[in-house]
Parts: sequence; C-alpha cells; structure tokens
Amino acid sequence: MKNKIKLDSLPKHIAVIMDGNGRWAKSQGAARVFGHKNAIKAVRDTTEGCAELGVEYLTLYAFSTENWKRPKLEVNALMQLLVATINKEIKTLMDNDIKLTAIGDIESLPKSCQRELAQAMETTSKNKRMTLVLALSYSGKWDITNAMKQIGLKCESGALKAENITSEIIENHLSTSGIPDPELLIRTSGEQRISNFLLWQMAYTEFFITDTLWPDFRREHLYEAIVSYQTRERRFGKTSEQI
Ligand code: IPE
Ligand code: IPE
Ligand code: MG
Repeated sequence: MKNKIKLDSLPKHIAVIMDGNGRWAKSQGAARVFGHKNAIKAVRDTTEGCAELGVEYLTLYAFSTENWKRPKLEVNALMQLLVATINKEIKTLMDNDIKLTAIGDIESLPKSCQRELAQAMETTSKNKRMTLVLALSYSGKWDITNAMKQIGLKCESGALKAENITSEIIENHLSTSGIPDPELLIRTSGEQRISNFLLWQMAYTEFFITDTLWPDFRREHLYEAIVSYQTRERRFGKTSEQI
C-alpha cells in the first residue's frame, strides 16, 4: 500500500476520530477501559506513520465535550491514561521530531493533565517535522462558540465592526488558527457521523470510514485511507471540467 501513495499530493493535515475502543474491549470480554489502554499502540503507529510520510499536521479526537457524560469511572480512567501516556510518549515525540499541541477546553481537564500537557508542549515546541494536535474536551460547537465570544468582545469594545466580520476573521479566532483545514478525515469503527468534531474546518474534508476498531488500526490502514483520498476529485463546488 505504501508504494501506491503519491508523496507529491499527500494531505497536509489528517484528522482522526479514534472510535471503537469500547467495542474492541467487549469483543475480548473485557471492560471498556481495557480498550482505551490498548488504543495507545494505534496512536503511536499512526503518528509515526504520518510523520514518516511527511504529513504536516495530525489531529486526534481523543475526548469530546460530550464524553464528560460517560460514567465517572470511565472518565477518570481516561484522564489517568492521558496523563501517563503524554508523559511516556514525550520520547517518541522527540525521536520523531514531532511538536505537540492541544485544542479544546483544556482548563476543564484535571490539573495533573494540564500540567503534563503543558510540559510536553514546552519540551516539543521546537520540533519541526510534524505537529500532533490532541483534541481534548473538544467539540466543534464549543470551538465556534468560543470564537464568537471573542469576536463579540471585540465588537463591544469597538475594535471590530460587525459588518467587517469575514470567514477569515472567524477562522483566526478558532482554536485551529494557523493550522490548515484537514483534507482527510479518518473515522474508525464504521460510524458514519461527525460527532461534533471540527465542524467549521471540515467544510470540504474528504471522509474515509473504516470498520476497523481503533485499537486494531495500524499504519497499513492509514496508507489505505491516503490512497483512497488520492483517487478522489475535489471539486469545491466547481464542475469536473474546471478542475
Ligand atoms: C473512542 O472509543 C474513545 C473515546 C471516545 C474516548 P469509544 O470509547 O467511543 O468506543 P465505542 O464507540 O464505545 O466502541
Ligand atoms: C467521538 O466518539 C469522540 C471521540 C472519538 C473522542 P464517540 O464514541 O464519543 O461518538 P458517538 O457518541 O458515537 O457519536
Ligand atoms: Mg464511540
């Protein structure tokens, strides 16, 4: 599969909805948390696979605004796993020259998570090969609401006129400001929905949905998604003849 990838037309930014950990655990007769623990390998393999190919940004949807509504036991386990994993994976990030950033309502995370995250972001801040964006306590509606609040404040203070608001101004106030929109979205576990992920940013993103459950996802699946993406004609509203 890797040989089929055209390196001159790689997506710059790939976004992933890492789904199916609970079902993977259930299929093994184990508790949901076991699925989350076994998802780390998929994260590492996908991250390294993207960096090796030359993908510039990889955004992983790790915890949504709505995921806070899960049973307390699962939420706590996920937060603990997050702290442990970020700390453990700093070496992988440094070895691969990957910079870590995060989007979402980071202040809603436990203090221990915020600390680990801040430290990993600081340690990897000078890395150049790829940027890994973790979406944590993230939702597209949260992102847009947050941007609207900032823009509203600027209008109130007179720094901005409502009539001058453009899509660029909105983009500059989103948490993804400075990051190109993802060309490709991968969702595992077969679900065909966006689940409140990058709503604004995915206006023209190509979707690749695989039945593979996230803990089983490896770079071979990533290559398959990229090959599929490269066969698509992206028209952006134009006709085929215009492309
Ligand atoms: C994705 O797997 C991980 C998170 C949302 C944190 P799930 O936990 O949603 O697994 P399923 O969808 O229940 O199988
Ligand atoms: C989406 O998965 C969120 C993450 C992968 C972090 P969910 O499992 O929460 O999505 P739904 O509830 O099936 O739409
Ligand atoms: Mg799920």
